[in-house]
Amino acid sequence: MQGLEQLFSLEGKTAIVTGGAGVIPGAMAQGLLKAGASVCLWGRGRSHPIPEAVEGLRRQTDAGERIQGVTVDTGDDGAVSEAFAETERLVGYPTILVNGVGGNIGKRPFTEIDNDEFEQVLRLNLLAGLVVPSKICANAWKERQSGGSIINIASMSSYTPLSGVDAYTAAKTAVLNLTVSSARELAPHGIRVNGISPGFFIGYQNKALLIADEDKGELTPRGRQVIDRTPFGRFGRAADLEGVTVFLASDAASGFITGVTIPVDGGFLTHNI
Ligand SMILES: NC(=O)c1ccc[n+]([C@@H]2O[C@H](COP(=O)([O-])OP(=O)(O)OC[C@H]3O[C@@H](n4cnc5c(N)ncnc54)[C@H](O)[C@@H]3O)[C@@H](O)[C@H]2O)c1
Repeated sequence: MQGLEQLFSLEGKTAIVTGGAGVIPGAMAQGLLKAGASVCLWGRGRSHPIPEAVEGLRRQTDAGERIQGVTVDTGDDGAVSEAFAETERLVGYPTILVNGVGGNIGKRPFTEIDNDEFEQVLRLNLLAGLVVPSKICANAWKERQSGGSIINIASMSSYTPLSGVDAYTAAKTAVLNLTVSSARELAPHGIRVNGISPGFFIGYQNKALLIADEDKGELTPRGRQVIDRTPFGRFGRAADLEGVTVFLASDAASGFITGVTIPVDGGFLTHNI
């Protein structure tokens, strides 16, 4: 086991986790904290306030002051630049970015797409969810020649369209593509860009779509379809994302890996007939 800790230790590193009050980004933040990193949660704080999320992680881990938060709209260049400076002040210079902001709005057939809603979902997943924070961090890292690691979040819809959520599908397919293109461009600066494609986890934004009655454990027809198609026969659990997050964040463990996206899906993508 000698050397294993050095491979996966993030002690002395600082990570930004956007959408950090959300279910999936919160789980990823927990993995980073367990590996010894300092973490700053970024979020808009509308329905999920960042201070509450920070308190929650303080209770669940022994991180203490290593976990901090900044309330910021990650789609706003100026606000994100300020949040970067504030993060450095609070928990040290960040060299890890987890792009956790994203999600879907509405569900409707292709022929009934609402243009405004479509654009809102693209902005949420591509600008707030990837481009703006990545651009600001990568520019800082290039200037200081520090290198860095970015982890994007794709989805099962990046590979096969999910019905009724075309904007989300289009955006998440683009996440795969942008992960590759930015990895190529940023590699000479020592910046790695990878992604994770979670299968189905119960988040705030998809709960009503998948769970009919939480107390009775009853699923909606779509929730049942998902479980039937997932060889492991269950939704993802928060802890399923911790190891892969630490692996991709750690230069010692994955320093020669860039431009890849790893599914964490209980085998959903192996589905065949
Ligand atoms: N839950 C799943 O099954 C699942 C599966 C695959 C991919 N994903 C992806 O994982 C990511 C997180 O999903 P989740 O289910 O944990 O979602 P969530 O809704 O629980 O968390 C997302 C968080 O982002 C915040 N946010 C939204 N817009 C913002 C903005 N402009 N600025 C700052 N914060 C903002 C929200 O307030 C929320 O706290 C998303 O990209 C989602 O598409 C989720």
